[in-house]
Amino acid sequence: MNILVTGGLGFIGSHTCVELIEKKHRVIILDNFSNSKIETLDKIKEITGNKPVFYRIDVTNESNLEEVFKKHKFDGVIHFAGLKAVGESIDRPILYYYNNLVATLILSKLCIKHRVNKFVFSSSATVYGEKESPLIEDMGLGKTTNPYGETKAMSERILSDIAYANPSFGLTLLRYFNPIGAHKSGLIGEDPNGIPNNLMPFITKVAKRELKELSIFGNDYDTPDGTGIRDYIHVVDLAKGHVKAIEMLDKGVEIFNLGTGRGTSVLELLNAFISVNEIKVPYKIVERRKGDIAVCYADVSKAKDKLGWQAKLSIEDMVRDSWRFENAK
Ligand code: WQD
Repeated sequence: MNILVTGGLGFIGSHTCVELIEKKHRVIILDNFSNSKIETLDKIKEITGNKPVFYRIDVTNESNLEEVFKKHKFDGVIHFAGLKAVGESIDRPILYYYNNLVATLILSKLCIKHRVNKFVFSSSATVYGEKESPLIEDMGLGKTTNPYGETKAMSERILSDIAYANPSFGLTLLRYFNPIGAHKSGLIGEDPNGIPNNLMPFITKVAKRELKELSIFGNDYDTPDGTGIRDYIHVVDLAKGHVKAIEMLDKGVEIFNLGTGRGTSVLELLNAFISVNEIKVPYKIVERRKGDIAVCYADVSKAKDKLGWQAKLSIEDMVRDSWRFENAK
């Protein structure tokens, strides 16, 4: 299939492009480099032997985006492009609502106009809000704790209404849990611009002595070791879930959790990183981070039953591959 991948040079986007190309799909990438680098395009070529068509385009620019739709006949779209820093979204709500919602509106409008009828949307477990884990797709949307999460929930509603109004338009919403790890080649991985927000890139930068120590945000949660529990999933497993989703996509709206179904605490992940990679990571316990919840992990039975997909890689694979990428940079 001819697949448009917005945000295709980002962490999850680039890994998904690799898996799509390896399944013989033709990939056209859009990216505006807000949280990615042009070097990733050559890394995708080095891994797959195939250099995807690339346009440096902001998805909120309708005329530039429509030029791409006129040049290519797409069979489907995977929409990753969006701002994703929870903390930043609290300080800059207009930037987040404008960028993430306008991008989704313009992209879906052009899909309908140009009859591109397969749309996979990069959503997030954040849309469940404070609901009790294990999180199940039919639980419905919760009140999220930040504008970033709200843009994901609102985009899900917008896209679902578009699908209901256009019966030939097929939509799949993929709710990610906590993607970490990197491609086994060490050529692509999580490489955020600036100070990392997420746990794993923070750990790797402390291990590399680029940052002084890790701050663990609270050890007084109601969990076995007191630290927050999340469902960490290897980014390559996540990427393979996208390939399955676009290949299986038919009419109507489907929602899938992409996680492992297992919870891991901050201390458990940190200790796995330290023991697998045999490296020290200095840390200190500090107060809880605003907006954090104690426990978040997925019920993954629907993706297994209806997509025929499940995560295969372990926490040890994730921490080993993250560290290999950090060292190869
Ligand atoms: C994980 C755990 C923290 C950093 C967010 C978004 C989600 C997705 C992934 C975009 C928590 C603890 C973290 C640190 C720490 N984003 N932590 N010290 O908050 O679960 O999810 O990122 O797609 O939508 O909500 O991920 O990696 O920030 O935190 O102790 O320096 O690590 O308290 O328990 P989170 P995270």
